[in-house]
Amino acid sequence: MVFQTSCLRVRKVFSLWNQLGKQQVPELNRAGVIIRDATHVHQLIHTLQSGGANTLQVVSDFDMTLSKFSHNGQRCPTTHNLLHSSCLITEECKHKMRALQERFYPVEIDTAMSLEEKIPLMVEWWSDAHDLLVQQEIQRKLLANAVSQSEAKLRDGYALFFSTLERCGVPLLIFSAGVGDIVEEILKHHHLLTHTVSIQANYMTFNKEGVLEGFVEPLIHSFNKGAGHCLSPAHISRSHDRPYVLLLGDSLGDVSMANQLPGVQKVLKIGYLNDQVEARRPAYVSTYDIVLERDETLDVPNAILRHISMATHL
Ligand code: TMP
Ligand code: MG
Repeated sequence: MVFQTSCLRVRKVFSLWNQLGKQQVPELNRAGVIIRDATHVHQLIHTLQSGGANTLQVVSDFDMTLSKFSHNGQRCPTTHNLLHSSCLITEECKHKMRALQERFYPVEIDTAMSLEEKIPLMVEWWSDAHDLLVQQEIQRKLLANAVSQSEAKLRDGYALFFSTLERCGVPLLIFSAGVGDIVEEILKHHHLLTHTVSIQANYMTFNKEGVLEGFVEPLIHSFNKGAGHCLSPAHISRSHDRPYVLLLGDSLGDVSMANQLPGVQKVLKIGYLNDQVEARRPAYVSTYDIVLERDETLDVPNAILRHISMATHL
């Protein structure tokens, strides 16, 4: 009897939380937002909100998470294939990189394959793509122009996302298996590379003449973001006393991006499900706390940040 009464009370509190959470973050009610465990999510949002902006850090993937997957029905480029629309690489190189993508992208997004099967193939994709780029003798000074002329697009709402983080002093770690120099140029192009942003990605190395000669080791691919990387010291010093993480990703491997960060207690994981939505829904729903289907905006992360920052009156 006592047990039943307390169960009822707990259920009432949780349902109140659900209602409050949905009212406070109405964007969570949108079509295309899938939440496996609403109580867990609202508890997490409540914890993040109680801690306030001073206890929060954001860790986000770049390609197809901060950048768009598609725009007006057209696929948008990743940082690796953004150079395809420039004259910095030859037609032959573009052709070979596309062939690699056709072979390995289905592996990347295959939810039936194990990590043990996928990882060597991902290493092969990244190593071959980097070798092809190195053969092109790309000049560092031409990257900014190639980026500004490319079709790369950030998700709608990006300006609010970056300005909220800056206004509230919340550090952002962009953890990308893309090309670091290109992520940096895209952010510079949009005036978003502020002192609270750190980038962990595959950076190019250049010789004395400023010509591409290699990539910094260890390689980052979609499924090794959780271990083996020396994380950005700038981000560690900005975030060591921030136990709560808002994590944004689009690959199933992105959920591990906060694994190496010291002192992390709670992670609210938001996953963008961009491609093969129906087939991959079960895997995404069981991996991420909040799944956003075919959503080319940052509206949901922005709404959660608004909720947290309003609560701390920042
Ligand atoms: P991300 O970690 O910022 O999402 O970047 C990795 C993405 O880049 C991943 O989804 C696969 C993609 N990619 C290409 O589009 N072309 C390539 O040549 C390589 C190596 C990766
Ligand atoms: Mg990605």
